[in-house]
Amino acid sequence: MNITRLGALALTPLLVIACSDSSDRPSTPPAVACSGTAVTPERLFLQQLGSDRVIIKWRGNRDGGAEASAVCFGTDMSFLNEDSLTTASVTATGHSEALLEGLTPDTTYYYSVGGAGAAEARHSFRTAPETGELPADGNIRIWIVGDSGVNSQDNQYQGGADLVRDGYLGWLDENGGEPADLFLMLGDNAYPEGTDAEHQVAVFETYPDLLASTGLWPTIGNHEMGTVGASLSPDPESYASVLGGEPDPAPDSPMPYLNIHTLPTQGETGGVASGTEQYYSFDYGSVHVVSLDSQLAARDPSNRQAMLQWLQDDLAANSSDWTIVIFHHPPYTKGSHDSDKPLGGLDQPIFDMREQFTPVFDEYGVDVVYSGHSHIYERSFYIGGHTGLSTSFDPQTQAELNDAGQPASGRGDEEYSQITRNGTDDKAVYTVAGNGGKATDVADSFPHPAHFFSGLVIGSVVVDAAASSLTARFIDDKGDELDSFTINR
Ligand SMILES: [Fe+2]
Ligand SMILES: [Fe+2]
Repeated sequence: MNITRLGALALTPLLVIACSDSSDRPSTPPAVACSGTAVTPERLFLQQLGSDRVIIKWRGNRDGGAEASAVCFGTDMSFLNEDSLTTASVTATGHSEALLEGLTPDTTYYYSVGGAGAAEARHSFRTAPETGELPADGNIRIWIVGDSGVNSQDNQYQGGADLVRDGYLGWLDENGGEPADLFLMLGDNAYPEGTDAEHQVAVFETYPDLLASTGLWPTIGNHEMGTVGASLSPDPESYASVLGGEPDPAPDSPMPYLNIHTLPTQGETGGVASGTEQYYSFDYGSVHVVSLDSQLAARDPSNRQAMLQWLQDDLAANSSDWTIVIFHHPPYTKGSHDSDKPLGGLDQPIFDMREQFTPVFDEYGVDVVYSGHSHIYERSFYIGGHTGLSTSFDPQTQAELNDAGQPASGRGDEEYSQITRNGTDDKAVYTVAGNGGKATDVADSFPHPAHFFSGLVIGSVVVDAAASSLTARFIDDKGDELDSFTINR
């Protein structure tokens, strides 16, 4: 009986095709698959992943043959239509970039670098939902690492980024497996000088599968400017290696970070146009992310003022449910850097970001702020109005309090509300996560009084932004959750 039923079902489509073929209507030409050959690049990553576009960027061929010059893509991994063939442009540093446009929001696409007719499962990405919306699974997941660039330096911290990555992946395995929608890097992404070769090891060979499938959004650290992280210059043209590494060739910037990344300057993925790749913003569904430049723009008064004005314009135009800001130099830290000490100008951006930018975060409803630089994990209370030294922190007036009049933890019955007790969205949680590859030191007066949790242990952060809550977790290299907080709206 089962065989009979299957036979009847199988006959039905044949009959339909026969009717169609007998009509006089012109027949549609059969779809043809892309006919290229898949290439495995030496580096492969996704830039400006939005609701309707993405840039697939790559360089090199692991098999030593010719580089790929095009991609094919589609929603069926076993059949990439030849109509999707997209030719890449090639930059002065040899990066190929293929811009895919007209994509459908919140949809999984597969791609082949080299333009083969089928894709590997790991060569896939999901477009962002429409601005303001949540993806079909109801959650936007963000993975954040800071100062993770240890694999390119030959010292005791080499390999630390692998441990952090695997701790995160192990935690994912045990907690539902939902992959990240966004991958944020907090600067010092490649030690010691941010050369192109150091990026290859510390970024592209450390996270190859994540980078092939997740939009990457970085910010600039001091080590991205060469000079073993000691540059005080506000000008990317003054990038220099003192260890014998190569700056990038003209006509590109000598600063490899700016050539490796293709970041939005014109609001390509939402947000107000910044006109520079050094700082930018974008929307991902109901989340707005701002990446500020605390290393270069912050060191020049007029550039800093321009960035501050842009930030105000950007946040004034932002109506996202959740707003996240990232930059390298942490306003509040007592780790390997001390936010009370400017270190002869090296850490002056800590002071300028705290004094001039955190009041804007308070005024425009920023929810969470992530920095690196200090090789430690530190997470603040829900605070606002704290622009001075650590000795000036007044929890009674600057932190959201629990029912007992003490700074609230953000957990259990002390979860934060986006609109605080005074009726405005005037507070944020500040996290230092410069521990994505090494945890090194604490300052003399550790811990910082504005922090609820401080831990000298390596790890990374997972943020889950949903309709009515944002939860952030600190996951160590063992895959254990050591800290968390929730903001409700
Ligand atoms: Fe660092
Ligand atoms: Fe740093």
